[in-house]
This record gives sequence, structure tokens and C-alpha cells, in this order.
Amino acid sequence: MKKIKVMAVFGTRPEAVKMAPLALELARRPGIQAQCCVTAQHREMLDSVLDIFGVKPDFDLNIMQPRQTLSSITSKTLLGMEAVLEQARPELILVHGDTSTTFAGALAAFYHQIPVGHVEAGLRTYDKYSPFPEEMNRLLVSSLADLYFCPTHTNSTNLEKENHRKNIFITGNTVIDALQTTVKKDFTFSQAVLNQLDYQNQKIILVTCHRRENYGQPMAQIMTALRRLADAFPDVQMVYPVHLSPVVQEAARAYLDKHPRIHLIAPLAVDEMHNLMARCHLVMTDSGGLQEEAPALGKPVLVLRRETERPEAVEAGTVRLAGVEEQPVFQMAARLLEDPAAYAQMAHAVNPYGDGKACVRIADAIEWHFGLREKPPAPFAPRA
Ligand code: UD1
Ligand code: UDP
Repeated sequence: MKKIKVMAVFGTRPEAVKMAPLALELARRPGIQAQCCVTAQHREMLDSVLDIFGVKPDFDLNIMQPRQTLSSITSKTLLGMEAVLEQARPELILVHGDTSTTFAGALAAFYHQIPVGHVEAGLRTYDKYSPFPEEMNRLLVSSLADLYFCPTHTNSTNLEKENHRKNIFITGNTVIDALQTTVKKDFTFSQAVLNQLDYQNQKIILVTCHRRENYGQPMAQIMTALRRLADAFPDVQMVYPVHLSPVVQEAARAYLDKHPRIHLIAPLAVDEMHNLMARCHLVMTDSGGLQEEAPALGKPVLVLRRETERPEAVEAGTVRLAGVEEQPVFQMAARLLEDPAAYAQMAHAVNPYGDGKACVRIADAIEWHFGLREKPPAPFAPRA
């Protein structure tokens, strides 16, 4: 039997977390020849995820440079993909989300007239500069794509409003699939400080902050608020695995260094991250992925941004927008630390983003699209 060649293309840590389980699922399908191309827009942070999931790329463009620009990521991906696509000749390429790798990967496929499947399609803020450049990347990829794998019903409605009506599948988010393989009841962290924290009697706040639109003044304000929180609440321990971006490293060191209860640590391997999240008290983040993972683990999230393309957990009450200004960020967190009722209202597990079967649905949809299966998968619907 001739197999359908499907190539997953990704390059950053979050894409890897969300595409690795799908790459593994596709490799299990007898009718599919799964291929994997990484741009390595991230190097160390990507390799760490590949190691954990045991994914071995067939192609590696190795494009990362220190302080890389959007143009450099985009042009190196586009040029690098040329040789890969000519050699591998996939019948479908899959890109994920909204990074520069996502956009350039989809454009490269289009230039070779190869159909594109967009995983995590249909997220929108409707502000072209926020998040930057991600909102524009996902808009452009929606135009380039042929198949759309939407995590939620809201995402598919967004696409329909833009007149994308065909080949939309509501699958849940593959990050919930990933989470189900990493979180363990007994887990020993590799960083000593994480084993020494008292998760029962102290309030562990997990922090991440890396977005380009937060560089400069917003990051300064956010980090000032974080330090004030650590000063004001002696039972708080803050853990911040700092993104390897030199801009973020410099800001974190300038504002948060040398505080006895703020732990600036290296980026965590994804299983360590998920297990820390499962044990912490509160998450404060500008990350997209953490906004999806923490609600599933019953952890309240304060989002360090002005908007979010993930309204589902906000509606469910476990995520709140804290903005990027010092005073509101401080006040919203302080309230959750002081007022057990306010905390309890947010701390319940909700799963608007998936049920752990997103990869199966996406693989089924691809098989159906290529005539290998009679019916498309039933859409994901969160439990009421
Ligand atoms: C990228 C994505 C963003 C995503 C984020 C996840 C774009 C434009 N941005 O932003 O959507 O939220 O990844 O983390 O696609 N670096 C290393 N080693 C690594 C990774 C990064 O040294 O393993 C450093 C390099 O100096 C690099 C810099 O970080 O130049 C920034 O990386 P880049 O991918 O350009 O931007 P992110 O902020 O990571
Ligand atoms: N993550 C990780 N180690 C870290 C920080 C994040 O493994 O030190 C994981 C996190 O659990 C999530 C993904 O990386 O699955 C999110 O990546 P990031 O916040 O960098 O990007 P975003 O989701 O904002 O695009």
C-alpha cells in the first residue's frame, strides 16, 4: 500500500511540546509515512523537548542565532525548506500555532504547492501588534492553509467569520495530550531547589515572561510587581525558569536577582515544568501554553498581557488578565495570596482546551482527507 507522506515542521519549544505527541501518533499509523523537519528556531529549548518525547527529526535546518530578528528566522526557514521539500516531497505539511517558523514553513509549502495543515488554528486577538508578531503569523497561515485543526469551538467560529469554511476540525489542543504523559504523582526534580521547596506550607508562584511585545517597559513593570510581591509576602517562593533570550535574561537579572525567595533558574525540561505546575500555588505568565496547561491542573493563572487569544479559561474563571502595569499586577496577585475565597474561586480544574485525544482526532482527520478512513472524527466538546 502506498503511504501518504505527512511532514511536521516546527522550531520552537512550544511548537515541539504540542507537535511531538502528534508526530508520534502519525508514526503509529500504517497508512502514513511520518516525516519531521525542525527549523531549530530554538536550539537548546527545542532539543530538550525532542529528547523527552523521543522524537528524532529527519531534517534539521539549525537556523538559530543569538538575538535573531524576525527577518532572519523567516528567510532562513524559507530558504532551508526549499531543499527539504524537494528531497522529501511530502503530500501534506503540518505547521503549528503562530511562530515565525509556522509562517515561513507554511509559505515554503505553498511555494511548492504542497497542502498545509494548521494545528492550533483559529486563535485570534484581533490586534495585529499584540501578540507581536504572532497574531499576524496566524492570520497569514489561515490564508495559506488547506486543513484547519482548531482546539476549540470558538477557534472554528473565528475562522468561519473570516470565510474559511472547509476542512475545519475541532480537535482539542495537543498540549493536553502532552500533559497526560508528563505529570506524575511521585516526581523528583533535577534542580535541587525544586525538591527543597515546601509545596504544602509555602505559596509557590510559578512565573514565566518572554513575549516580544513585553520587552522594555512592560517587562520592567511586571518584574517590579513580582519583586514587590516577594517582599510583601514572606510565605511566597517565586520560581522563574528564565527563557534563554538575552533580552529576557538581562531583564530578569536586573529586576529579580539576589532575592532570597525568588529563584531564577534555567529553562525547565517540559516534564519538570508540568510537574512544577501541578504542585505550585499560582501561575503568573505571558505564555500561551501555560494558559492552557495550568487550568487543566487546577491552578489559577494571572496573565501578564493586555489581551488573550485564549478566552475559554477566562470564561471558566480560572484565568484572569492582569495586564502589564505594576500596580494592577501586584494587586491582583496580592488578593489571591490574602483572600482564600478569591483563590478558591479560581482554583478548580477545567479542561476547555482538550481531553487528551487531539492527536488521534488530527491523525484521523488526515486519514479521512486522503480517503484512508470513511468518516471524519467527531469534534472535541469539553465536558459541561
Ligand atoms: C519565539 C516565538 C514566540 C513563542 C516563543 C516561545 C516568534 C517570532 N516568536 O519567541 O511566538 O512564544 O518562541 O518560547 O516566532 N535562544 C537561545 N536558545 C534557545 C532558544 C532561544 O539561545 O533554545 C535565544 C536566542 O538568542 C534567540 C532568542 O533566544 O535569538 C530569541 O528566540 P526567538 O525564537 O527569536 O524568539 P522567542 O522570544 O523565543
Ligand atoms: N515550558 C517548559 N519549560 C520552561 C518554560 C515553559 O517546558 O522552562 C513549556 C510549557 O510547559 C509549555 C511551553 O513550554 O508547554 C510553552 O512555551 P513558551 O511559554 O515558551 O511559549 P508560548 O506558549 O508562549 O508560545
